[in-house]
Amino acid sequence: MNDPILSLDKVHTHIGQHHILQGISLNMKAKGGATILLGRNGAGKSTTLRTIMGLTPASTGRINFKGKAIENKKTHEIARMGMGFVPEDRAVLFNLTVEENFRLSMIEENEKTHENLNEVLELFPALKKFWKTKAGLLSGGQRQMLAIARVFVCDHALLLIDEPSKGLAPIVVDQLGESLLRIKDKTKVILVEQNFNLARQVGSDCFILDDGQVVFHGLIQDLALDKTMMKNYLGI
Ligand SMILES: Nc1ncnc2c1ncn2[C@@H]1O[C@H](COP(=O)(O)OP(=O)(O)OP(=O)(O)O)[C@@H](O)[C@H]1O
Ligand SMILES: [Mg+2]
Repeated sequence: MNDPILSLDKVHTHIGQHHILQGISLNMKAKGGATILLGRNGAGKSTTLRTIMGLTPASTGRINFKGKAIENKKTHEIARMGMGFVPEDRAVLFNLTVEENFRLSMIEENEKTHENLNEVLELFPALKKFWKTKAGLLSGGQRQMLAIARVFVCDHALLLIDEPSKGLAPIVVDQLGESLLRIKDKTKVILVEQNFNLARQVGSDCFILDDGQVVFHGLIQDLALDKTMMKNYLGI
């Protein structure tokens, strides 16, 4: 069985008077680790994730998650169904320590979450080192790792991760890539990225958005060979 774990069918989203998403259709198969969303600034990538999560609800269209319609559900209901979200702006609590940030993200503490926590600390060793440090004192890269790691601790069927490499030094992006590779072996991931090399490392099924529409769906390896697409929609 390989029904999509997530599908969007002709989704439109308005923000105020602005018609942002203009009929997005995409799906993510239950098999297969990471799906990549690419596109220039302002293409509608973050709005797509926020719409899936019910934060900026769709005006029309259908969104299906694990076989259930979610387009009219509230964000907390969608989260409870097993969807995790790491927003663009590094959602960590600056005045809390790394440990406290983790504790706060655990809906329940049990054997499984402890196992996940141990695993996550192996994935992101720096976080272990700074366990008692306030998140506000971490570097940008470490904060981004914490933002992802604290969501990863809970068991999610699907993780939405929005541009994790934004503003990070190249060496930190490499470390992030390795961690994302291991995460997508455990959990399905939709990764929004503008860093093409990082995206290519993490996933192969890929969608390009432009002006609130899907303009490409295919393998990222094929896309890399299409100079016109790369130039027109990614500016590469
Ligand atoms: N709150 C808002 N009010 C008005 N317009 C908005 C709002 N949020 C987003 N937009 C507009 O919607 C469009 C898509 O924005 P979105 O943030 O989804 O793009 P993006 O692809 O994530 O871009 P970036 O790569 O810069 O993060 C942009 O034109 C943006 O200006
Ligand atoms: Mg964005």
